[in-house]
Amino acid sequence: MFEKLNAIPPDPILGLIAAYAADPNPKKIDLGIGVYRDEAGNTPMLDCVVEAEKILLRTQTTKTYLGPRGVPGFNQAIGETILGKDNEVFKQNRVRTVQTPGGTGALRVAADLVKVTRPETELWASDPTWANHLALFPGAGMAMHSYPYFDAENSSLRFDDMIAALQQRGPGDVVLFHACCHNPCGVSPDPEQWQAIANLAGERGFTPMIDIAYMGFERGIEEDSLCIRLFAEQCPEVIFASSCSKNFAMYRERVGAISVIAGNAEKADAVESVIHNVTRKNYSMPPAHGPAVIDIILHSEELTAQWHVELAGMRNRINGLRKTLSEKIAAAGIQRDFSFIQRQSGMFSFMGLTVEQVHRLRDEFAIYTVNSSRVNVASFNEGNMDYFIEALAVVLDE
Ligand code: LMR
Repeated sequence: MFEKLNAIPPDPILGLIAAYAADPNPKKIDLGIGVYRDEAGNTPMLDCVVEAEKILLRTQTTKTYLGPRGVPGFNQAIGETILGKDNEVFKQNRVRTVQTPGGTGALRVAADLVKVTRPETELWASDPTWANHLALFPGAGMAMHSYPYFDAENSSLRFDDMIAALQQRGPGDVVLFHACCHNPCGVSPDPEQWQAIANLAGERGFTPMIDIAYMGFERGIEEDSLCIRLFAEQCPEVIFASSCSKNFAMYRERVGAISVIAGNAEKADAVESVIHNVTRKNYSMPPAHGPAVIDIILHSEELTAQWHVELAGMRNRINGLRKTLSEKIAAAGIQRDFSFIQRQSGMFSFMGLTVEQVHRLRDEFAIYTVNSSRVNVASFNEGNMDYFIEALAVVLDE
């Protein structure tokens, strides 16, 4: 069976975890995978999560199967958090949310759903997009194309080019968007631009699919889910994949959900039945622990308020790091302009380095970034920023 099989290289993002762990250099910095870190370099559990886990331990009475939907209270609460409780689509009974193993699981289920519904559908994603989008959608058998998005020269959004490209899309096409904290480039449309994109989706009739993995890390929960709310106003059908890995810091518990807004309640039921069918053939049912914890948090006013505070704390710390990093780079006399770091948001920014420079950072300084020179800004702290800037100056030859 496996005699002819050759090993394939590790995933470009996950592979860095092992490489970093094996590096004995005490000054090493992991700027790779997107996890939040505090000043001490740890990824702590949120207090609201710890509290809810205690409640869960006290109150749970069974570990019997949950069924294909997962934890119903989680599905309802996460859908309402993203769309807003009073959204018309709830009154019209057009939304279905199904818990998945992580946001990646939600994207894969979304791809399977589209593939089953309309096998010839092609998907358009921003250039660039998350490396795993490029593997996941073709892996599910979908043809994938890109639309212009990031202007590398000015570290900004190619809004006009993006609109021109999306004007070519129409019914039957799926267009993938990052709701906030674009991964990997950190550049998002502003609210007015989102409105224009949503209007275009309505006019052209393509189906928006939104990856909202970083909700709460750009400006706030409502602000970061704005595009989904706008698409819901303009389009009869919307698909979105959410994740609680980052915003509840529950990474390893793999908590995510796929939500679909359909044209009417009957079609929404049909969509949900297909989702249950594709997941049954894959992992059967989603896991319970993480969503049960979040169900408790989002149904407690006190714990929800605490979550908002903790989420704002992570967001503010990253924004502070963005400011300090870009100021310190300028103060170090590096001529190249890195002020864009401060204007961008979320965990990631592109440093605009060549692969050779990225490899020099890794080999000579034990600083780990993805080959694209995407850095996880949340990994910086007082103790490692100066060392990073010294290394940056060396590889930039400045
Ligand atoms: C990242 O891009 O680093 C995160 O979304 C984690 C992952 O699974 O790649």
